[in-house]
Amino acid sequence: MSQPKEIPQMEKIVSLAKRRGFVFQSSEIYGGINGFWDYGPLGAELKRNLRDTWWRTMTRDREDVVGLDATIIMHPAIWKASGHVDTFADLMRECSVTNKRVRADHVEPQSGVVMQFSGFSITGGSSHNDSITVLMRGGEHIESFRKRVRQLVAQARNQTAENIELHGESKIDAVEGSVDFHPETGGALGEARPFNLMLKTYVGPTATENDIAYLRPETAQAIFAQFKNVVDSSRQRVPFGICQIGKAFRNEVTPRNFTFRSREFEQMELEFFIKPDEAIEAVCGSVAAWSEGADLSVPQDNWGWEMWHRYWVKERTDYYAGIGLGADVLDYHWQTKEELAHYARACVDILFKFPFGTEELEGLAARGDFDLMAHQTASRKPMDVFDEEVKNAFAKWTDEQRAALVERKKAEHRAKEKGGLTDAQVDEWCQKLFKGFYVPHVIEPSAGLDRLALAVLSNAYSEVEKTDAKGKSETLYVMRLHPRLAPVKVGVFPLLKNKPELVAKAREVFELLRKHFSAFYDEGGSIGKRYARQDEAGTPFCLTIDFETLGEKGEELKDTVTLRHRDDGSQERVKISELLGKLLPMVG
Ligand code: GAP
Repeated sequence: MSQPKEIPQMEKIVSLAKRRGFVFQSSEIYGGINGFWDYGPLGAELKRNLRDTWWRTMTRDREDVVGLDATIIMHPAIWKASGHVDTFADLMRECSVTNKRVRADHVEPQSGVVMQFSGFSITGGSSHNDSITVLMRGGEHIESFRKRVRQLVAQARNQTAENIELHGESKIDAVEGSVDFHPETGGALGEARPFNLMLKTYVGPTATENDIAYLRPETAQAIFAQFKNVVDSSRQRVPFGICQIGKAFRNEVTPRNFTFRSREFEQMELEFFIKPDEAIEAVCGSVAAWSEGADLSVPQDNWGWEMWHRYWVKERTDYYAGIGLGADVLDYHWQTKEELAHYARACVDILFKFPFGTEELEGLAARGDFDLMAHQTASRKPMDVFDEEVKNAFAKWTDEQRAALVERKKAEHRAKEKGGLTDAQVDEWCQKLFKGFYVPHVIEPSAGLDRLALAVLSNAYSEVEKTDAKGKSETLYVMRLHPRLAPVKVGVFPLLKNKPELVAKAREVFELLRKHFSAFYDEGGSIGKRYARQDEAGTPFCLTIDFETLGEKGEELKDTVTLRHRDDGSQERVKISELLGKLLPMVG
């Protein structure tokens, strides 16, 4: 007897996400739209809870970070200045048979026989001499291969396969591990070409080239563009940060892995502005050097970009641990010199072990002063700040010390392969710094909310085998969501729905709790079934109101309920008057 086919973990998660109302395909009734996802009742609450934990950790709990809520469509000049118009592109290759595109770095190696046809004709119609090259994969029968090619040709021309006749078949070559064929169609791929990922729209009535605007591909640029307004209005002084949560859009070539790579998604970004290291050197005498085990718990005056970068990696790691994503499910990728953008000093990706592989959850980049400088140049609006302390510190330096700093900076910039300043620009930069003016540098922790929701769902998913008294076993699904993230914090059940006293008491408990956190009242089915439903929804606690609650089994149990814990199934008796005090610290 053949074994039942093992269903991949990711498929099970996608299925549960739909079944329980976490995530639905966008526009599903019309066949869906690739790369777009909707969050159902439970998903919407989960996302809201994630947003809240991030916002609270990144700004409310800190004195040195403030928030921003900017528009999705901004002046197109922002995207020109930031480099997105010219360089925000993926290299793509196109299938020569179907014109389907694929990201050049997403083509898996394939093996087989390269087959070529000199052309094809359409029944009762035209004849074409365009040669067609398709990979016949190992194990593919020649007849089914020919049928497949006819289908590919037909699809691209709105025809049916039966109407296509292929001509001049020949065997070209046998290939091993080739990346020159489309992963789905097997059609030969063309040259890699850049494809800009920004989604365009028109703002204004004429809908001409002059009205082109972009849906933001990241939230970060609004923070840079509003930097001066925030400084002027918030009484923040460098070092400080501005954070934002909001939608971003990218016309991803190959959206994939459920919500992992979508075309519309939400980002949670912080731009943390710091002094340039030379200013720290002047104020503190030297810049703290990072070494393994360095104390990153409390920011210090002598921290330069490296310590701040390391600090934010630690802060973000602590945040993830606080919502149940610990060291066992995270990893880090420190970009090598070759991988780094020319302006970046360091960049680390925090990775999560998704069921489909270990992939980026968040990027943390030390971006120097690249972004503010770019906007200063393009907008001709100064982005520098004045720092009295820095001015006073440099005033104590000798001319020789200042000249040595200028020379050191010139040498640094001359050694840069790309993006270095000219000697004259270094002179100007240093003279401003000596007077206390500088454009702040930035550390950017940038996370994806949808990716985080997917990580949290994957991490929470578990299966429990249950065997009943008759020996019949079934698989139950338990979403072990952290109580702070769970869409519903507590399920409230009367033991029996046909006992008005139980129902009235259960409604009373439900009304009491729902004022403080999301609660769900359920009286349908056996208690076991109700527990199972809440386990699938990730509800960490369930309360049952029974005859003990009514005082029918003794005065000492009156006004107590059974509190059941999702993760170990344990139960305890708790006074109704103590419920809030017990539950609030765990779910808040
Ligand atoms: N401002 C920097 C920036 O946007 P990024 O690495 O392109 O950097 C940051 O994006 C985060 O946004 C990623 O780590 C990921 O969590 C999320 N993200 C990026 N593209 C995404 C997509 N197509 N779908 C879902 N999340 C995405």
